[in-house]
Amino acid sequence: MSNRTSLILDVDTSTDDALALAYAVASPAIDLVAVTTVAGNVDVLKATANTLAVLEWLGAGSVPVHRGASRPLVQPHVDAAYFHDVGGLGGARLPISNREIGQDRGPAAIVRLARARPGELTLVALGPLTNLAIALNVEPRLPELLKSVVVMGGAFTVPGNMTPAAEFNILVDPEAADQVFATPFPSLTAVGLDVTNHVALSRKDWDAASGGEDLAQSALLLGEVGRFAFLTLAVEQFALNDPLAVAVAIDPTLVRHQRSEVAVEASGPERGRTRLIGPGQVKVAIEVDPERAVMDFKRTVGLPTGAKI
Ligand code: RIB
Ligand code: CA
Repeated sequence: MSNRTSLILDVDTSTDDALALAYAVASPAIDLVAVTTVAGNVDVLKATANTLAVLEWLGAGSVPVHRGASRPLVQPHVDAAYFHDVGGLGGARLPISNREIGQDRGPAAIVRLARARPGELTLVALGPLTNLAIALNVEPRLPELLKSVVVMGGAFTVPGNMTPAAEFNILVDPEAADQVFATPFPSLTAVGLDVTNHVALSRKDWDAASGGEDLAQSALLLGEVGRFAFLTLAVEQFALNDPLAVAVAIDPTLVRHQRSEVAVEASGPERGRTRLIGPGQVKVAIEVDPERAVMDFKRTVGLPTGAKI
């Protein structure tokens, strides 16, 4: 399909990153060009191993994976293993992949691919923004080379999920986030908790994905990565933070945005807060059509939608 959107996903693969990979692999509207990994939910070695295992599970073992930054630009790395279980995949039992990773590291791969296909690639960042900040540092022309950038991160009009001020991806590397949000990309969209809080799967969805029915691998993955959350943490909803950012990259009409300048607090108790400081170039998602977003995810990965045929 020539009108597919060519994506690079930058991930800190844990549970919702895994579902975002499933969505990207399953979507007929997406050409997944490469995946780069970054220290975030888990350390970068685990994030890379998890990414390889998930892509193998999805039958996408040919998608190049490039290991990226092992720590934030300035701050020590803070992970989120408490929510994603020790291995970072929510108790999933996926076969290990021994596939080789790409020769060049994450930021270098982003620069190489953007140079090779100027104006064609969309980068969707689903973890701390360390790789993108490093790539911008070594290739200041990157904004001219990338077609679009979508960031899952920030809490612009709602409380954070790590502290009252901060969402996780921004909190882990606030300096990187500040650099990214200040960069004049031709198209930069921020998909934060303001919208992802409203887009979630239910325990019923997890049951369906765990029920051994005749479902696609991309649907069964929910049964695997949701195990710790639904069984141990006993959550009733599973937020589709990362999958929504990928969906917005191919269908921006899922959200309503306002164009703002964004500042990021880098220290003190407010560290990681994302502030809207007036008109600017960042398209900050402030509203979402939750029903359409959830239905789109389910249809794409092959989860039962309950829709009457
Ligand atoms: O705050 C949610 C974000 O932080 C998601 O990308 C999740 O995977 C973690 O990286
Ligand atoms: Ca993530």
